Amino acid sequence: MRKLIVTGSGGQLGRAVKRQLDGRYDLIRTDVAADDEIRRLDITDIDAVTSFAKEEKPYAIINCAAYTAVDAQETDVDNSYRINAIGARNLAIAAEETGAKLVHISTDYVFAGDKQTPYTEFDAPGPISIYGKTKLAGENFVKEFSRAHFILRTAWLYGEGKNFVRTMLRLAESHDQLGIVDDQIGNPTSAQELARAIDYLLGTDNYGLFHATCEGVCSWADFAEEIFRLAGRKVEIERLSSEEYAARNPAAAPRPHFSHLEKMMFRLTGGFAMCDWHDAIVRYLESGVTAG
Ligand SMILES: NC(=O)c1ccc[n+]([C@@H]2O[C@H](COP(=O)([O-])OP(=O)(O)OC[C@H]3O[C@@H](n4cnc5c(N)ncnc54)[C@H](OP(=O)(O)O)[C@@H]3O)[C@@H](O)[C@H]2O)c1
Repeated sequence: MRKLIVTGSGGQLGRAVKRQLDGRYDLIRTDVAADDEIRRLDITDIDAVTSFAKEEKPYAIINCAAYTAVDAQETDVDNSYRINAIGARNLAIAAEETGAKLVHISTDYVFAGDKQTPYTEFDAPGPISIYGKTKLAGENFVKEFSRAHFILRTAWLYGEGKNFVRTMLRLAESHDQLGIVDDQIGNPTSAQELARAIDYLLGTDNYGLFHATCEGVCSWADFAEEIFRLAGRKVEIERLSSEEYAARNPAAAPRPHFSHLEKMMFRLTGGFAMCDWHDAIVRYLESGVTAG
């Protein structure tokens, strides 16, 4: 069986990747903290990363590790670059040295969000947050140091872990009314759908940069409304502008107003399709997800 090193294995995508690929690949699951099933691998440590890869000689490395707390990174800049940029660089060097493919995950937040039409892979990035800047630096390192790479930009991800959907379910337990941003538009995406896209690309030599989100867009307020409707929760939504939200939450990082990602590369290179966000959220809620 082909061997895969999965980093950040305890995170949302890391868990979805296990569900998607376990049994068909030999998964070496790693994370910054070890447990019974997961080995310790800190992606910021170049020596640890390259010697781990040389020892395991994987078919591919799937990088699910990242610093994802967007607001915290505005004041934790070095750690943000260390994990999202240097971590990606280290894995790219290790992949190149061992002849492995590299799957790396990036974000819609590499864009400024001031466009009126969907962003394709051929549009110029222009990040407005530290997270967006460090993820873009990670993309660039991956392109610079590894030839056999797939970079998948995803957005508004939810799976097994901390995410917007579980936060809404938790807040619905104690609130009749919630103020939610209504002027940021994006593609809510299930981690399981993203894992399916990784599965598809892994078996190909279809390298490059791909937008990989569920189909369709909405605002955070629309997304919350659909979550409450499907979960049978009665919560009145106060639709806020980003400025109104920031006035109530001063630590919030700037986020793109419009980050609709068009999956042009999938369209041009074989037509892999990801499901509609409405269908994905129904499936997710039916899977028995709890408030969190
Ligand atoms: N979540 C979103 O809404 C979203 C949106 C767009 C793109 N993405 C991208 O999608 C990918 C997966 O995100 P996710 O939501 O699955 O993230 P996640 O749930 O936060 O998981 C990230 C994992 O990486 C681990 N990690 C942190 N620092 C590490 C290090 N130095 N070495 C090794 N592992 C480390 C984390 O461990 P600890 O928990 O112990 O820190 C965690 O297990 C990331 O590249 C992210 O940038 C996410």
